[in-house]
Amino acid sequence: MRTSNITKGLGWVLVLGLTNAFPFEQRAASKSFAGSNEYFLHALPAADQKTYVETLAGWGVKVLRLWVTNVSAGCLKGSTDVQSVPALEDTVGTYDTTVLKALDDTLKLLSDNKIKAIISPHNANGLGGSAGCDAYCSKYGDSSTFYSSDDAKADYDKRIATILNFQSPNFGKAWKELSDVILAFDLENEPMITNVDKLQANDPDDWLCGRASAMRKVLGDSLIKTATGGVGGSQYCCDHEFNLLDKALKCDAIDIMSVHGYMSKASDWEYFISGDASVLDQANEAGKLVMVEEWGVSTDNQDNFDTQVKVFNDAGIPWLYWQVVPGKDQTESGAPSSCGYDGFEIGVNSGKGDVASAVGTANAADANQDWSGIV
Ligand SMILES: *[C@@H]1O[C@H](CO)[C@@H](O)[C@H](O)[C@H]1NC(C)=O
Repeated sequence: MRTSNITKGLGWVLVLGLTNAFPFEQRAASKSFAGSNEYFLHALPAADQKTYVETLAGWGVKVLRLWVTNVSAGCLKGSTDVQSVPALEDTVGTYDTTVLKALDDTLKLLSDNKIKAIISPHNANGLGGSAGCDAYCSKYGDSSTFYSSDDAKADYDKRIATILNFQSPNFGKAWKELSDVILAFDLENEPMITNVDKLQANDPDDWLCGRASAMRKVLGDSLIKTATGGVGGSQYCCDHEFNLLDKALKCDAIDIMSVHGYMSKASDWEYFISGDASVLDQANEAGKLVMVEEWGVSTDNQDNFDTQVKVFNDAGIPWLYWQVVPGKDQTESGAPSSCGYDGFEIGVNSGKGDVASAVGTANAADANQDWSGIV
């Protein structure tokens, strides 16, 4: 992805007089793309999933991000009929594949609608953080030990291998062979989000590259990519910018740098996307792909959905919203109360943001990097 001096010189001659020379000359042949996160899609009744996926496919959505996670029954982010799904591991090393079977049905639906999945195999927020204390948290006590212990790394690599080797009832082969429907596996959702000391020390346990290498070994020659899952959680100006951690950028086994961010202002996104902290420049320099894997507009934002998404589409960086939800968001009349909203939701029929037209704009935009053959 490095631009040679000769190309650079030519570029300057060709675009003389234009203001935005570098993005122009870096653009690759492929188009950008867009989609959404929907971490509990597999816990919805089949008919709800079908309506949601067909609606998004109709907008031109190319990618949805799914999670290997347990879900409790009840009302969740506007969906009133969420079904209970047990965790893959209630005890580390004992696998209940109910969640994988449910996700497999969702993958079939995505495949029927020409949408690809990014799959997050575990949530770092469940290591005693905002998503409770899961089996790994119970066994290892705290997230710091989870990232440093050799036993924990081995346990986690087994979880990953179980997911990658899961034999798909719908497709008749292992998930790791489903590159037509699975774009990438994340290492984890938001690794080390509560371990700022480890992030500042550039992952001293080599957790990221170690897990990515173990994952790549299981994937073998599969075309499925590895993505970071958003190292450290959201980018926040100016002391919480870990998504492009140096160890991850330099790790051969990592293909995609995932950017997560919840900016209130479009100008903050400009700083991270095309400005002083440009993730595109850093990824291009390191030969990595980069995408905005999570971003959301809260109900008390300074700039609205349309203003923020324009930054991504102008830069040709792919994005997944957190989250376009099947039910009603909080701004819609008749939205259910006590329904676990986080304030970022946009309902499929909501006026909070014109996601359909933003997806169309993404699909028409030249990608900054070459995603051909991947999406
Ligand atoms: C999954 O299980 C953990 C551990 O019991 C719990 O803390 C968490 O809230 C559950 N997650 C969801 C989404 O229900």
